[in-house]
Amino acid sequence: MLALSTPILVALLSALTASAWKDQCEGFTANIPNVVMKPSYYPAGALVNLTSPSSSVTTTKMPAFCRLELTITTNVTSGNKALTEVWMPDGWNSRLLGFGNGGLSGGVVYSSLSYDGIQQGYSSFSTNTGHQSSPINGSWALNDVNAQIDFGYRAFQLSYQAAKALTEQYYGKAISKKYYLGCSTAGRMGLVEAQRYPEDFDGIVIGSPANPVARLSAWNIYQGRQVLPVNGSRWIPAATWSVIHQEVLKQCDGIDGVVDQVINDPRQCNFRPEAIACGPSSNSSTCLTLGQIAAVRALYSDWQSDNGTFLFSRFEPGGELAYATSYVSGPNIALGPEYWKNIIFSDPNWDYNTLTVDDVFRAIQSNPGQIDNHSFNYTSYFARGGKLLHYAGLADQIISSGNSYDLYNSVSAFTKASTNLDPYDSYRFFPIPGMYHCNGGLGANAFGGGGQRSVGTPPLAVDPSHDVLAAMVAWVENGNAPKEFVAAKYTNNNATQGVQYTRKLCPYPKKAVYQGGDQNSSDSFICA
Ligand SMILES: *[C@@H]1O[C@H](CO)[C@@H](O)[C@H](O)[C@H]1NC(C)=O
Ligand SMILES: *[C@@H]1O[C@H](CO)[C@@H](O)[C@H](O)[C@H]1NC(C)=O
Ligand SMILES: *[C@@H]1O[C@H](CO)[C@@H](O)[C@H](O)[C@H]1NC(C)=O
Ligand SMILES: *[C@@H]1O[C@H](CO)[C@@H](O)[C@H](O)[C@H]1NC(C)=O
Ligand SMILES: *[C@@H]1O[C@H](CO)[C@@H](O)[C@H](O)[C@H]1NC(C)=O
Ligand SMILES: *[C@@H]1O[C@H](CO)[C@@H](O)[C@H](O)[C@H]1NC(C)=O
Ligand SMILES: *[C@@H]1O[C@H](CO)[C@@H](O)[C@H](O)[C@H]1NC(C)=O
Ligand SMILES: *[C@@H]1O[C@H](CO)[C@@H](O)[C@H](O)[C@H]1NC(C)=O
Ligand SMILES: *[C@@H]1O[C@H](CO)[C@@H](O)[C@H](O)[C@H]1NC(C)=O
Ligand SMILES: *[C@@H]1O[C@H](CO)[C@@H](O)[C@H](O)[C@H]1NC(C)=O
Repeated sequence: MLALSTPILVALLSALTASAWKDQCEGFTANIPNVVMKPSYYPAGALVNLTSPSSSVTTTKMPAFCRLELTITTNVTSGNKALTEVWMPDGWNSRLLGFGNGGLSGGVVYSSLSYDGIQQGYSSFSTNTGHQSSPINGSWALNDVNAQIDFGYRAFQLSYQAAKALTEQYYGKAISKKYYLGCSTAGRMGLVEAQRYPEDFDGIVIGSPANPVARLSAWNIYQGRQVLPVNGSRWIPAATWSVIHQEVLKQCDGIDGVVDQVINDPRQCNFRPEAIACGPSSNSSTCLTLGQIAAVRALYSDWQSDNGTFLFSRFEPGGELAYATSYVSGPNIALGPEYWKNIIFSDPNWDYNTLTVDDVFRAIQSNPGQIDNHSFNYTSYFARGGKLLHYAGLADQIISSGNSYDLYNSVSAFTKASTNLDPYDSYRFFPIPGMYHCNGGLGANAFGGGGQRSVGTPPLAVDPSHDVLAAMVAWVENGNAPKEFVAAKYTNNNATQGVQYTRKLCPYPKKAVYQGGDQNSSDSFICA
């Protein structure tokens, strides 16, 4: 017998395997109704250089994989189509992973397929949700009910079905477990899946869900209207947001015993903008006028209708440097009006200044495309063993983190009231102090959340203590529910510049409590 050293043997075997996989991929055919498929094979280290309207990657760091480009006809009568991709690595971990989208979507999320998906061994899929367009442009939805339904739930669910069938045919073996990962609109999509199709996924990891869109997009407009017009009496220029931020830190940073530019629990911060009111001899670039104080008071209060009905939660103190770039940064208010123009009023010229609270309640009722689900009933998903892990940045500038607390509290209460399940066995919520929308910010914000790797903030390790998806796998497959994470804050939120500090992330209602010692070490904190 020819004696070969183990490394040579492994190299020979994998060389053979790679060419077999190439043949398997390029010759792969499958007959799925209403799905047209095009396979192509990428050897390990090949250039992957792909762009969609919402994502692009240029990398040579991917493992070998088979790329399937699918065109799915979502409604044969209308002819609406979704573009979906399924990427299947040679070194498959026997699991399926689905990704959601951002904003109003409009493209396959190549960055997630690459960095969150095949690099971790998952057979991975992503869809354009039924239209190609920039994430902040909603004109695709105008008078196209089928496109609205596709965005609401259909394109993703059909993509899931195709990805599941194709993965099992390609590898000739059943998928072991199925997972979902995503933030923002992807968070809404994960919730929709858990609610409408509780059998699809075993573990769903969502961040800052854009749900319900009717309330959120109205709140975007409401917040913008607090400061507009630009240069009016309530307008807050970017430099003034920095001044407000410094004052927030002065009033609230130390509440948790740690002065670190992060408000650990913004709900404990009763910010008083009056403390920096302009006096007769003030320098107007370092103080707030009466109009600005009124605007700040409104922005940092929950939005209620005149009769006291709650509509949406407030901006939390601490995110000011990001608020300077959000809805309150100029007259366009980004996404909010796109939903109302194209989906609710079918009028591209609709003026956001005319939005009323009654419009919001009517949109909640009509719910075009069933984009939202206003019910807190996730009991079918929980009862069949499905797990839900949810996180939200406490300095989120796009979707106030209060919306996540509200969802968690409401779903927990509903579950307790209508079943004998303990919701904590199925659903855990991790507030992330100082994190902006989905990633970034001044707090420890790298823990494997959707899209974090592709912006340069990977988790410290791919294990259940540092990575939310690995924690979800341990929860689903070994019954180890996540108790805490260690997240990294990288210098300039860029891992190549090194770790600035580490910090514990805790499941609500627990918080990270400082025990003394090195503030830069997560070991100095406990979840309590
Ligand atoms: C990636 O593709 C774009 C066009 O789609 C091209 O301009 C660019 O040069 C490509 N990058 C590399 C590294 O080949
Ligand atoms: C498919 O589109 C047609 C034409 O717009 C519509 O009448 C029908 O209700 C749609 N079917 C579904 C299931 O959405
Ligand atoms: C949105 O997309 C449509 C269609 O491509 C285009 O005509 C329109 O100018 C875009 N709107 C914005 C605000 O970019
Ligand atoms: C919400 O989801 C539940 C469960 O699938 C469904 O019965 C209900 O009709 C949905 N409601 C809306 C408004 O989509
Ligand atoms: C607002 O004021 C700034 C600074 O004075 C000026 O540069 C800018 O053009 C003004 N913008 C508008 C819309 O008036
Ligand atoms: C006002 O404060 C700004 C920012 O600190 C500073 O640049 C500017 O020189 C000050 N102006 C006066 C008149 O003191
Ligand atoms: C409050 O006002 C909203 C919007 O006008 C209305 O839909 C709702 O029924 C009112 N609630 C109460 C308690 O009056
Ligand atoms: C929750 O939804 C399920 C279907 O998904 C339904 O069977 C159940 O009755 C609902 N629970 C309540 C309390 O409405
Ligand atoms: C991260 O830092 C490295 C090294 O300083 C730099 O080359 C790279 O461009 C940075 N990345 C980003 C996204 O800023
Ligand atoms: C923590 O890190 C900061 C820099 O990020 C540094 O200034 C500080 O000295 C460190 N503290 C300790 C106790 O090491």
